[in-house]
Amino acid sequence: MTSVIVNGVKRELQAPADTPLLYVLRNDLELTGPQFGCGLAQCGACSVLLNGKEVRSCIPPLASASGKEVTTLEGLSARWAKQKGLSGEAAAKTLHPVQQAWIEEQTPLCGFCQNGMLIKATELLESNASPTVSQIKDAFTSGVSPHLCRCGSYTAIIQAVQRAAGAMKRTARSLGVVRDSERSNA
Ligand code: FES
Ligand code: FES
Repeated sequence: MTSVIVNGVKRELQAPADTPLLYVLRNDLELTGPQFGCGLAQCGACSVLLNGKEVRSCIPPLASASGKEVTTLEGLSARWAKQKGLSGEAAAKTLHPVQQAWIEEQTPLCGFCQNGMLIKATELLESNASPTVSQIKDAFTSGVSPHLCRCGSYTAIIQAVQRAAGAMKRTARSLGVVRDSERSNA
C-alpha cells in the first residue's frame, strides 16, 4: 500500500510500488488529464506536479510519490483556490488562471499535449510571477526534454502564459497578497 496525497486528498493505493505513476493516476484513480504520449519522459504529455515540481509521470514509479503531494490537471483549480484562501461556492466556481487563460487564448489545437503545457505553466508562474518570453521558452524547453506540441501551438502557449501571469498578479493584488517578485516588477 502506498499513501499519496492526490489533488488534496490522501489516497491509499494498492498498485505495485513499481507501477508507473501515470498508470496509477489514469487507471486506478481515473484522472485522465495526464496523457500517455511517448512513455519515455520525452514529450511532456503526462506531466503532473509532485510537491509543486513538474515530473513526467510515465516513468517514475508510484513509490516515488509516497507521502508526497501530486497535483494533476484536475486539481489545478482547487490548488489555486487553496493558495488564495477561497472556499465553498467561490472555490467551486474558480478555474486556475492558467486554465482560464488557455480558454481565453483558445490555445489547444488537438489538445493532446496541453495537459503538460498547463502543468508546466503552473509550475513556472508559482516561482516567477512575471516571466519574460525568453524565460517562458526556457521553461518549456529545458529540463528532461522540451514539451512537444505536434500541432505547433507554441505561440499561443506563450500568450496564454503571459495572460495567466497578468491575471494571477491582479488576483494577488486584490487579495492584498503581493509577492516580492511582483513588487520588484510593479
Ligand atoms: S508520455 Fe510521459 S513524457 Fe511523453
Ligand atoms: S495541441 Fe495538438 S499536440 Fe499540442
